[in-house]
Amino acid sequence: MRYLGIDTAKRISKIGLGTWQFGSSEWGYGNGYAEREAPAIVIRALELGVTLFDTAEIYGFGSSERILGEALDGSLDSVFLTTKIMPVVPVAPVVEQRAVASANRLGVHRLDMYQVHQPNPLVHDRTIMRGMRALQRIGLIDEVGVSNYPLARWRAAEDALGSRVLSNQVGYSLVARSAERDLLPFAESHNRVLIASSPLAHGLLAGRYHGTSRPANPARATNPFFHPENLERAEELIAVLREVGDAHSATPAQVALAWVIHHPAVAAIPGASSVEQLESNVAAAEIELADDEHQALSTASARYRPIDEPVSLARRKLTSLKHWGKTLKYWTNTMWHDYRLEHVQSSDARNGK
Ligand SMILES: NC(=O)c1ccc[n+]([C@@H]2O[C@H](COP(=O)([O-])OP(=O)(O)OC[C@H]3O[C@@H](n4cnc5c(N)ncnc54)[C@H](OP(=O)(O)O)[C@@H]3O)[C@@H](O)[C@H]2O)c1
Repeated sequence: MRYLGIDTAKRISKIGLGTWQFGSSEWGYGNGYAEREAPAIVIRALELGVTLFDTAEIYGFGSSERILGEALDGSLDSVFLTTKIMPVVPVAPVVEQRAVASANRLGVHRLDMYQVHQPNPLVHDRTIMRGMRALQRIGLIDEVGVSNYPLARWRAAEDALGSRVLSNQVGYSLVARSAERDLLPFAESHNRVLIASSPLAHGLLAGRYHGTSRPANPARATNPFFHPENLERAEELIAVLREVGDAHSATPAQVALAWVIHHPAVAAIPGASSVEQLESNVAAAEIELADDEHQALSTASARYRPIDEPVSLARRKLTSLKHWGKTLKYWTNTMWHDYRLEHVQSSDARNGK
């Protein structure tokens, strides 16, 4: 495994583990995955030197945090454990309460990093960072991170916190490269980290899906990456991934990850549906792409032009409204699950039900 060259209390592996899949119905991997495969993935990741583990309070309404925490089982010495708050009501007391709830689900006394899952369009970061500062002061969290933040808000968040906001977690892959515009140059010049989410474009870049074999789970069924026309348009890029992979005895997914982490400020957090995928993803950290290979991949990626339906301003606003509506539903569901676990199930247990 390779690690980021940055001054953090614990090392951050260039390949981490994303755990949105754990206990989340959107991925449709089922109970067997949540109960057996997911914990096995975590244990194998630890054995292979992965230190960066990423989760969020809304993944599976808190299930992802619980599964991850149980599998880590207190082996935290080398782990850089990070979760995310959904900033629905980001006032300080709520931020503090959500951090405690996440730490409880994870079974830890301290989070190595606490991230804001997405910018709140209505509330300035001064509000949420007041809560983050309090959490740092009492030692419940070490670093603060953000996610899906444009550069101006990342910097505003730092000003509001009064110290570094270590990382920004954004979609970054061969088919999602907008971070190269300003986030990556900022991260590199200021010793910050870009955590690449969806580095395999939800699995597209593994090259297993095509027009007649498309993923059916809700996380991907309506995703434009898997639109039949876009799958066809991605074929040329996947052919280059295979070609480069042949020279390294590597799979397209491994080459796609090697391309993402080629940048010194990037750590990637691929999700995995099996232990074999995790092992393969970890092995990608050892692939050193030659300059001409990196260039060939970048060029093929720039040639990939997915169909993009023109969207009116009204439609964009409606989509954003729907997104926040769904987020609110997930957030309240997460709290409801906590409440049931703490009060209903424990009172059932007391009454011998
Ligand atoms: N901050 C945010 O807003 C945000 C958004 C999205 C994701 N994330 C984080 O980023 C993590 C990763 O993103 P993601 O899960 O969306 O997408 P991803 O990592 O790009 O893709 C994961 C999927 O790709 C397939 N895959 C993984 N390794 C493979 C391999 N070696 N060979 C073939 N297929 C492989 C698996 O699906 P199949 O086997 O079923 O094909 C797996 O579930 C998440 O778990 C989450 O922690 C954060």
